[in-house]
This record gives sequence, structure tokens and C-alpha cells, in this order.
Amino acid sequence: MGKKSSPSHCTVYVCDGGACARKKSKKVYAPLKALVKERGLKEHITVKKCPCFKTCGKGPVVSIEPGGLRFTQVKPKHVEKILERLDRGAPDKKSKRQDPQSTQRNPE
Ligand code: FES
Repeated sequence: MGKKSSPSHCTVYVCDGGACARKKSKKVYAPLKALVKERGLKEHITVKKCPCFKTCGKGPVVSIEPGGLRFTQVKPKHVEKILERLDRGAPDKKSKRQDPQSTQRNPE
């Protein structure tokens, strides 16, 4: 993972599998990527597309690593809230405590 494996760095994976793509995951991916760039967070947060998480009925799915925090049924309006959950790239510990299974319906 090189320089991006620091504790303050995280990767936001946006599912680009068939079901999520049909539910317009690109409309989540593009603004997430743009907002990270706009806010100068690229050093702390990487946004990537990824294949299916096997929870297709709950898509679009967004997962944050490390930590395994996962959001389902994500819509473009949730992008800001997802970034608010991150503290300089690291998943918010408080969020993980509130969500022991590291899975949330959506960021609202
Ligand atoms: S296509 Fe996204 S979870 Fe399966």
C-alpha cells in the first residue's frame, strides 16, 4: 500500500458492480471523488470503484477501509455525510462504536 497505508489514510470504495451501477453508483462516485479533491483531502482519502460486495439488493454500496464501515442505498445527497464521518481519512471511531457490525443502512 506504500505511503497510503498510514493510519490517517483511508479508501472509500464505491461498488461498481452491475446492480449498483444500475442504481446509479456513478452518481455517488463522481461527487465523492470531486469533493475529496475540492477539499484537499486526497492525501487522506482515496476514492475507488470496486466490484460487487454481494449485497446487491442494498446498493449502491459504499465501504470505507480500514474499519469496514459500510453504507447501503447511498445517494448523491449522502456524499457530504460520508465525508463528515471521516476524520482526516480515518474512519470515525465513534461511528464504529455506534455500529458494531460496521454496516449502516445509509449515512443519514
Ligand atoms: S453490485 Fe454492488 S453490491 Fe453487488
